Amino acid sequence: MVDGNRGSPAASVFDALGSDYERAFAASGAHRASLEWLLERFPPAGRVLDVGSGTGRPTAATLAAAGHRVLGVDVSPVMVEIASRQVPDAEFRCGDIREMPIEDGSFDAVCLYFALLQMSRAEQGGLLRRLTRVLRPGGLFALATVPLDVEGFDGVFMGQNVRVTSFAAQDVIGLVRDAGLTVLSEESVMFTPAHPDATPEPQLFLHCRREETAPAN
Ligand SMILES: C[S@@+](CC[C@H](N)C(=O)[O-])C[C@H]1O[C@@H](n2cnc3c(N)ncnc32)[C@H](O)[C@@H]1O
Repeated sequence: MVDGNRGSPAASVFDALGSDYERAFAASGAHRASLEWLLERFPPAGRVLDVGSGTGRPTAATLAAAGHRVLGVDVSPVMVEIASRQVPDAEFRCGDIREMPIEDGSFDAVCLYFALLQMSRAEQGGLLRRLTRVLRPGGLFALATVPLDVEGFDGVFMGQNVRVTSFAAQDVIGLVRDAGLTVLSEESVMFTPAHPDATPEPQLFLHCRREETAPAN
């Protein structure tokens, strides 16, 4: 399902990258290990929300192949088109997660891999709180981001101009805890995407569980 990207900067960047993004990050062992972490703890045929689902690989493809029911959301129409084609067993919706209504308590797990970086700090915190409420109590949350203390930094990513906002690792962890999540494990790695214009980037993967009572907002 494609609703259009409403002029989102993230949509413009990822519409341009398309499958090049998947190729550049395909060798990420930390991403695959994160999915294994989820699969080992997940109920059969669990419901997963994959936020910023990209091309559908590896996240939606891995989880759907294991029999889980995956809903991917992405603001880039090109990414949604690729994901729908590559992972027909999952459902994909095109739209901005910040504006998409999703019922509280309706998912067993949320994946949020590298989709926060083009939101403001306030939006990142607000989204983490809302996605925590989307989980059933006890549900699992896997998050990955680039843990740098930058706000509105203008850079170039795989040849595309991007404006990036993030937090240092300890502040990401603080935000996740404030949202009502317990961090069960974390992994920090350096990763160099397979792309001529790429540079090594720090990555932080967090594996969390929703506490029984999440904060109201
Ligand atoms: C860096 S890519 C990561 C893709 C995938 N999660 C992965 O790790 O392979 C980030 C994705 O998030 C999407 N995205 C960024 N901001 C978004 C938003 N506000 N709502 C929905 N999707 C968003 C982008 O279009 C892009 O496909």
